[in-house]
Amino acid sequence: MRSAQDLWFHAKRHARELVEDQWFDRTRHVHTSGDVPLRLAGIADAEKADSELYVPARPANIREALRAVPVRDLSEYTFIDFGSGKGRAIFVAAEMPFQRVIGVEFSARLHEQSSRNAQSYRFRGKTGSHVTPLHQNAMRFEFPQDPLVIYMFNPFGRATMQVVLDRLDASLQQHPRHVVVVLLWPRCGDQVAQVRGMQQVCATRRHEIFEAFAPHT
Ligand SMILES: C[S@@+](CC[C@H](N)C(=O)[O-])C[C@H]1O[C@@H](n2cnc3c(N)ncnc32)[C@H](O)[C@@H]1O
Repeated sequence: MRSAQDLWFHAKRHARELVEDQWFDRTRHVHTSGDVPLRLAGIADAEKADSELYVPARPANIREALRAVPVRDLSEYTFIDFGSGKGRAIFVAAEMPFQRVIGVEFSARLHEQSSRNAQSYRFRGKTGSHVTPLHQNAMRFEFPQDPLVIYMFNPFGRATMQVVLDRLDASLQQHPRHVVVVLLWPRCGDQVAQVRGMQQVCATRRHEIFEAFAPHT
């Protein structure tokens, strides 16, 4: 049975979701709200073990973290959300001047929703034309050679994270460039800090930010 504290937490969360999340979706013509457990997201059993359900982040928390990235001109950067789900974070990023915005999601159902959202998204004259939702396991993602802002809101556990970070490390060795990693409600900052050249630039209760430089910058 749930404790009174649990019930209060869920009631508050529900009220917040109704107001803030629904406001975001209505004003952007998208459907990014609502948690989706892995069993409803159509994830194969073999892939469930090290994965987290879809819980959309609060737009205010995503914005707060992205405004803190140590980048002067975002238009030179590609934004990547690993575990993009229905696309909440990619549509928040779409409102910042990133050159392009990529969401990587391994649930076909969630990916389909985020693709529909990319078609219907519009806000203050912007469309989702530079937003690319990809249906892919993060462990198989090929990093583009652009400067990157990589955002993660606890999409998976440590084993998957290590595969993704090893691939990032290899990509940085091959194509040195400025890469920023943003962790929302961070749980794996210690792993990010192990990527060669990665330095922590900021840590708050809600986010941690790391960066690696190209040798000549
Ligand atoms: C906590 S939600 C993140 C939601 C979104 N990024 C945001 O900030 O609102 C985690 C998401 O990661 C996805 N996910 C989990 N493991 C994954 C993997 N190996 N590759 C791609 N997506 C994954 C889940 O399906 C889920 O949609």
